[in-house]
Amino acid sequence: MNTELLPSIRPTKDRLHRPFRDLRISVMDRCNFRCPYCMPDSIYHEGFSFLRPDERLSFDEIERVARVAAELGVTKLRLTGGEPLLRPNLPELVARLTRIPGIEDIALTTNGMLLARQAAALHGAGLYRVTVSLDSLDPTVFARMSGGRGDLRTVLDGIETARAIGFPRGVKINTVVQRDVNDAGVPELLAHFRHTDVIVRLIEYMDVGNRNGWERSDVVTSREMMTRIDALWPLDPVSPAYRGEVATRYRYADGGGEIGFISSVSAPFCGNCSRARLSSDGQLFTCLFTTKGTDLRTILRETGHTDEDEPLRQALADIWHRRADRYSEERQERRSRVKAAHEDKAGEKIEMHYIGG
Ligand code: GTP
Ligand code: 5AD
Ligand code: SF4
Ligand code: SF4
Repeated sequence: MNTELLPSIRPTKDRLHRPFRDLRISVMDRCNFRCPYCMPDSIYHEGFSFLRPDERLSFDEIERVARVAAELGVTKLRLTGGEPLLRPNLPELVARLTRIPGIEDIALTTNGMLLARQAAALHGAGLYRVTVSLDSLDPTVFARMSGGRGDLRTVLDGIETARAIGFPRGVKINTVVQRDVNDAGVPELLAHFRHTDVIVRLIEYMDVGNRNGWERSDVVTSREMMTRIDALWPLDPVSPAYRGEVATRYRYADGGGEIGFISSVSAPFCGNCSRARLSSDGQLFTCLFTTKGTDLRTILRETGHTDEDEPLRQALADIWHRRADRYSEERQERRSRVKAAHEDKAGEKIEMHYIGG
């Protein structure tokens, strides 16, 4: 951590007494994939209007938000997209963020297509760790799940390059599991990364956004996946690394390494949720499933010519103080009240590629 000039940190708690610890920063709304569960090709085609470059926050603006967030207690940053590696000069942003007092961790979530060529520069800039989204090792399933845009070989090269370079806190894989789409291929994917230092995390398919046609029957719960995996390679639980950890961790009993399960549908973890999400055009969202963000870009641009951070600090603190989001727990509660067949789906939500998952 950069301890030089550590600011007076004012820990900020929301209405459910949750601290503000993590800031997920989307640096790019575009993506070079079209995963059907996130950006279906039928909607995100040639004619779709993404943000103009001047609508996206500049590096100066992102750095200001991160610095003020750190003053309110944020210690962990994650760069997301769309696809964050489409943002020109990303290593420069990473280097700037590492210099913010109070920031202890900076991670990147990427689809891996551009990772091989950028990994060295990102490592040099001080990035602590990388998470690559990879849903299947079967070329046909991979092609289907990336909307025909991804190349499996290139993504695997990206992962291998990142691993070989040796990010200080390693490389993880995120796998979204969908029933009858990629669940049967999960053992092959796990086998590929067993006995390496790469940790695979299996994510329950969520009802994010409005466009993926989510049905509960498409979800393979962590419990079901765990049973299937335990029959192949017995698993032992590992205690959480920190309070509020998203993944539940296990270790292969035979020494094959670690695996994580992210159970946001079957076992929501809102009670410990300390995350806010900043979209690439500067809207701040206090939940993955909210419908409305708060515009920070206007404040940033109105005060951009001065060094005056107080309006931004006040806005961020107010947003966090007002926060009471717990969507995944409410989804679970609705489900226990009504029959699954009549499960009501929430209204218009923010799209995943816009706030980076
Ligand atoms: P680590 O710090 O490595 O534990 O990663 P992380 O869990 O903070 O980040 P990552 O982006 O790898 O999260 C993996 C996935 O978990 C995301 O892509 C989401 O699908 C899901 N996830 C992360 N945070 C939340 C959250 O606050 N709410 C819900 N519902 N899902 C989340
Ligand atoms: N459910 C669960 N995870 C998702 N992701 C994208 N859409 C969904 C969804 N509907 C994951 C991606 C990536 C991360 C940013 O979010 O696979 O790993
Ligand atoms: Fe797929 Fe991630 Fe791109 Fe969405 S942002 S289309 S999940 S690679
Ligand atoms: Fe946090 Fe919202 Fe996810 Fe709950 S549903 S864990 S409040 S982002």
